[in-house]
Amino acid sequence: MNVIHVSAECYPIAKVGGLGDVVGSLPKYQQESEVGAKVIMPFYDNKFSSTHKFKSVYESELVLGQDIHAYKILKLKKDVLDIEVLFVDIPKLLFKDFVYSEDDTARFTAFQIAAMDWLLTLKEKPSIIHCHDHHTGLIPFMAQECFKYESLNQIPVILTIHNAQYQGWFSHDKVHYLPAFDISNNGLLDWDGMINPLAAGIKCAWRVTTVSPSYMKELQQAANGLEGLLDHEKEKCVGILNGIDSEVWNPETDEFIIKNYSAKNIQSGKTANKKWLCKEFGFSASKPLFAFIGRLVYEKGAELLPEVLEEILPKKECSILILGSGNPEVESALENLKKKHKGVYNVFIGYDEKLSHLIYSGTDFLLMPSRVEPCGLNQLYSLRYGTIPVVRSIGGLKDTVIDIEDGGFGFSHSEASENDILQTITRAIEFYKDVPKFKKTRKYIMSIDHSWDVSAQQYIDLYNSLKSG
Ligand code: ADP
Ligand code: GLC
Repeated sequence: MNVIHVSAECYPIAKVGGLGDVVGSLPKYQQESEVGAKVIMPFYDNKFSSTHKFKSVYESELVLGQDIHAYKILKLKKDVLDIEVLFVDIPKLLFKDFVYSEDDTARFTAFQIAAMDWLLTLKEKPSIIHCHDHHTGLIPFMAQECFKYESLNQIPVILTIHNAQYQGWFSHDKVHYLPAFDISNNGLLDWDGMINPLAAGIKCAWRVTTVSPSYMKELQQAANGLEGLLDHEKEKCVGILNGIDSEVWNPETDEFIIKNYSAKNIQSGKTANKKWLCKEFGFSASKPLFAFIGRLVYEKGAELLPEVLEEILPKKECSILILGSGNPEVESALENLKKKHKGVYNVFIGYDEKLSHLIYSGTDFLLMPSRVEPCGLNQLYSLRYGTIPVVRSIGGLKDTVIDIEDGGFGFSHSEASENDILQTITRAIEFYKDVPKFKKTRKYIMSIDHSWDVSAQQYIDLYNSLKSG
C-alpha cells in the first residue's frame, strides 16, 4: 500500500501550526509500518527552499480558469528528510514567503490541480490519497467529478479535518477554476451559496477524520456552519487522535534545550532549563512558572490572557511567559503589560521554534485556555517534557488531559472564561507548593506515550478497510 499526503504544510519545510507537525511526522510512522508514504506540498520561498537543492521530475502547464500556469514537480536532490516529499512549484502563485494569505483561492486550487494532473501521469498510482484541511478539500470532489480525473476515481480519498473554522470559501463566479465536470453536480461544491472546499471535501471524501474523537462529536454540534453536514455524514466520519514525533520532541536528545533529561533525571533537568528561562526573561526561579505558546487568536482564548494577567500578576505568586503571534490588538495588549509587571511577566511576540522547545523544557505549567482545540499538540509536547498542562477541557484537550482531582495529572476547566482560568491557575499554584506530589506528577507524565505508534496504525486500518486493490 502507498499513500500520498496532500498538504499546505509539512515540518520542517513549512510550518504554521500543528498541521505542519502532523504531516511531517505521521508519514514517517506509517513507513515504519511498511506503508509507502509520501507528501506533496507547495514549493514556498522560505528558508528550507533557499538552503536545499531541488531537481525537477515533471514539468507541464495547468489551466486555472482563463489562465495557464507553467509548473514543475520538484524533489530534493539529496534525501535529507525521513520521508519523500514532492513539491509543486508554480512560481507566480505559490513561491511566496508565506504559506497563507487573505485570498488563497487561486493558489490552492492551482496546487490541487497540479497535484492531480501529475498523479494522472504516474505509472504506479497511489493506493490512497490523504488530504488535509480545506486547502486540499477540492481533491475529493475533483477525483469524483472532473472528467479528466476519471482514471483516478477508484482511489480512496481521505480528508482529515485539522480545523473546521477555516473552510476556504469562494464565490461561484470562480467555478471555472475547476477542470470540467457535469455542472448539474455543482451542488456538491456548495454550502450556503458559496463554493466551500471543506464542505465539498466532506461530501466527496470516502472517509472523513478529525484529529481527536471529542472534536468529531463537537463538530456535529458546532462546526462554523457545517454541523448539519457533519451530522448527516457521520457514518463515514471518525476521530483519530494525533500523535507526536517522539524523535523531534525528545528531551533526552533535543538539541535546542539547555540540559537534556529523561524521567530519571527530570528534577535536575527541569531545574537547569527553568533556571535558564527565568534568567533570560527576568523571573525568579523559585516561583511557579506558567507559559502559553501559540497563535494569538480567538480560538486559542488568547484575548482572555491580558485580563487574566492583570488579575493574577499583582499577587506575585507566579511568573507567566508568553510566546506567540496573531491578532495585533492582543499582541499589543500583551506587550503593554510587560513594563508594569516586570519580574513576573514577559512576552515574545513572533514565531520561534527553538524558543518553544526551551519553554516546554523549562516551564512548570503550560496554559491552553482554548475555545476550540481540534487536537492540540502543545499539551502533548508539554507532557513529554514533564510540564503540567493547564487546559480548557475541549476537543483533543479533553481526550488527553485528566484533571488531578479526577485522579489525573493536569488541570482543566470547563469554560474559556477569565474566572475559570484564574481559578485553575490558583489551583496549580497551590499544587506546586506540595513539592513531593508536584515532582511525582511531572515525572509520571513523561511516561505517557503519545507517539504516533497507536494512531498511525488506526489510519492504516482505515486505509485497509477501503483499499481498492
Ligand atoms: P494549532 O495548529 O492550532 O496552532 P497545535 O497545538 O496543534 O495548534 O500546534 C501548534 C504548533 O505550533 C506546536 O508545535 C507549537 O509549539 C507551535 N507554535 C505555535 N506558536 C508558536 C510560536 N509563536 N513559536 C514557535 N512555535 C509555535
Ligand atoms: C489544527 C488544530 C490543532 C491540531 C492541529 C494538528 O491546527 O487547531 O488543534 O492539533 O491542527 O492536527
